Amino acid sequence: MLIRQRRGWDLPESAVTPEHATLGRRRAVGLAIGGLAFGGVGRARADAAPTARRYDPDRPLTEEKFATTYNNYYEFSTDKDLWRAAQRLPQHPWTLRIEGKVRAPRTIALEDLLKQVALEERIYRHRCVEAWAMTVPWTGFPLAALVKLADPTPEARYVVFETLTDAKHMPGLAMLWYPWPYIEGVTIAEATNELAFIATGLYGKPLPPQNGGPIRLVLPWKYGFKSAKAIVKVTFAETRPATFWEAIQPAEYGFWANVNPMIPHPRWSQASERLLGSDERVPTRLYNGYAEQVAGLYAGKTAEKLFM
Ligand code: MTE
Repeated sequence: MLIRQRRGWDLPESAVTPEHATLGRRRAVGLAIGGLAFGGVGRARADAAPTARRYDPDRPLTEEKFATTYNNYYEFSTDKDLWRAAQRLPQHPWTLRIEGKVRAPRTIALEDLLKQVALEERIYRHRCVEAWAMTVPWTGFPLAALVKLADPTPEARYVVFETLTDAKHMPGLAMLWYPWPYIEGVTIAEATNELAFIATGLYGKPLPPQNGGPIRLVLPWKYGFKSAKAIVKVTFAETRPATFWEAIQPAEYGFWANVNPMIPHPRWSQASERLLGSDERVPTRLYNGYAEQVAGLYAGKTAEKLFM
């Protein structure tokens, strides 16, 4: 017998507000073309179309225009209005290198990867370390599916993400004081947690370049800087990687970076957050409200700075 377990990010259809319903219809149209659209690659299996809709139970969706025009992407600029410059970033062809402690290192074209996973939509809250937040519908697949596909050996303890350095299209790379490329990483346990997600779409459309298109990481219980954009390499490692922001300022941006309203950033409070597109501030939640799914990952890690 098939027993459907309701997960923390699911919302029954009956609880969907009219606001969501409008957006949901628009997304449904986008999702119908999703087989063609995601990854911007022209072809994908029909059954690779998104299989499920996930709804955030607690907050209205951020309007698309705010999520796609207020971005952090230092490879382009330290300003938030980099979206215009990002439009020039080629999205196709795109390949992903998988290496390190895996049985068969390989380079895989994004369209071939998308044929091997089932796409779904998830509405997640996103909390930037700078204390702004949004709630957006990502399309993509669980990071666990990529880990499975990569077939890591038992020595693999971390999954490390390296992102694109394309100096021709990314003017921010000229800021040579930053330790390019942008590197992020998680433990294998975090990578295979049900929430960890690889996004290739946003609002039912291909992931815009300014949001990390064509492929990015989404870790909704961590500060946004962990969710690396424009991934080109995934390495399975025995040792903890030196991540981009940790290399810049370890006291402010640590490896774990789990959201916690009680632990202030050294220069500002993390107790509340501003919802993108408004001046409204709302209380920040432990693990960004996803404690039920992820708190168990950190049991016993008392010596670690889990929230910095
Ligand atoms: N990925 C890369 N490659 N470069 C970046 O500068 N910024 C991070 C993260 N991923 C960043 C990145 C930060 S600080 C945040 S908050 C999110 O992307 C922002 O994602 P968004 O612009 O889609 O909201």
